[in-house]
Amino acid sequence: MKILAIESSCDDTSAAVVEDGRWVLSNVVASQVEEHVLYGGVVPEIASRRHTEAICAVVKKALDDASVGVSDCGAVAVTAAPGLIGSLLVGVNFAKGLAFSARKPLIPVHHLRGHIAANYLTHTQLEPPFMALVVSGGHTAIVDVAGYTDLRLLGTTLDDAAGESLDKAARTLGFDYPGGANMDRYCAHGDADFFRFPHPRIDGLDMSFSGLKTKMINLVHNIKQQGGEINAADLGASYMLDVARILCDKVMLAASTYRPRALAVAGGVAANSVLRRELDRRCREAGLKLYFPDLSYCGDNAAMIGAQAYYEESLTGDEALVLNARATMELSESFKEN
Ligand code: KG4
Ligand code: ZN
Repeated sequence: MKILAIESSCDDTSAAVVEDGRWVLSNVVASQVEEHVLYGGVVPEIASRRHTEAICAVVKKALDDASVGVSDCGAVAVTAAPGLIGSLLVGVNFAKGLAFSARKPLIPVHHLRGHIAANYLTHTQLEPPFMALVVSGGHTAIVDVAGYTDLRLLGTTLDDAAGESLDKAARTLGFDYPGGANMDRYCAHGDADFFRFPHPRIDGLDMSFSGLKTKMINLVHNIKQQGGEINAADLGASYMLDVARILCDKVMLAASTYRPRALAVAGGVAANSVLRRELDRRCREAGLKLYFPDLSYCGDNAAMIGAQAYYEESLTGDEALVLNARATMELSESFKEN
């Protein structure tokens, strides 16, 4: 079955056609980065306006690229939670209207479930159960993926998401938004042993990244006050290594507790070269099979939503028409329960 999927939870307007949850026939992503870079981060009001302007053309291009019409698709899928509410509403209402007019079922998808499903597109044989590490701009989660729609949160951040912490530290070092990606590009060859940032001491599988960020802000502030030079490449490299080590330590603790068959990493920060290298090394040592999505499916995209949608329940009739977007939602919840 072909699914037309739509994603608009943050600042990327995306549409894709995915076959049987595994094969990407098209994946169109319209980025708003150039606009938000002026403000150093995503401005929610601007994001939703740009989604409204872009969504018709993005969906049309996805259908054209796949050489299909909506009538050839078995369902319309859309990210309905969590995310920026004004952004989500654009995609949800567009998908509702399209599904209704084309008489197709509507499949709401949890954004983080979609990120995890990006792995199914790259590793077409991968099936649950496995453990997932989701690291994005808004979320950091260690997840037990017992089944395609049977997911349980094992650990999360108590404050900033890993991506948010990288973005803020990058901004402090003078890198443009999106800071995490730019930090990776410009600091990957810096001296990662230049400085050690403090690791939080938190029991269990929860994490924290705000202390690291505060240390970076204070450090840079003090150097500037004393008229010193900021060594952005080395400080950035050191910061990325500490973020990666904190994530690796928690994932390894989770793995030794739950003994998963494999670890799948997902989300925008899964593109980070330092995290990829560290996880690769630690998983090799632990004998744990490791999966990453292709770089093109790490950041927000509709193909991953189409992949997860294949396994999710669809809504028809009034159930579809009353679907609402939600800014927050647990990974384990179902849209049908509301
Ligand atoms: O998953 P995503 O596209 O959007 C959310 O759902 O949040 O993740 C965006 C985050 C941003 O914080 C961005 O800086 C970060 O992913 N990111 C990276 C890299 N590429 C994107 N962080 C570190 N290294 C990268 N290469
Ligand atoms: Zn995302």
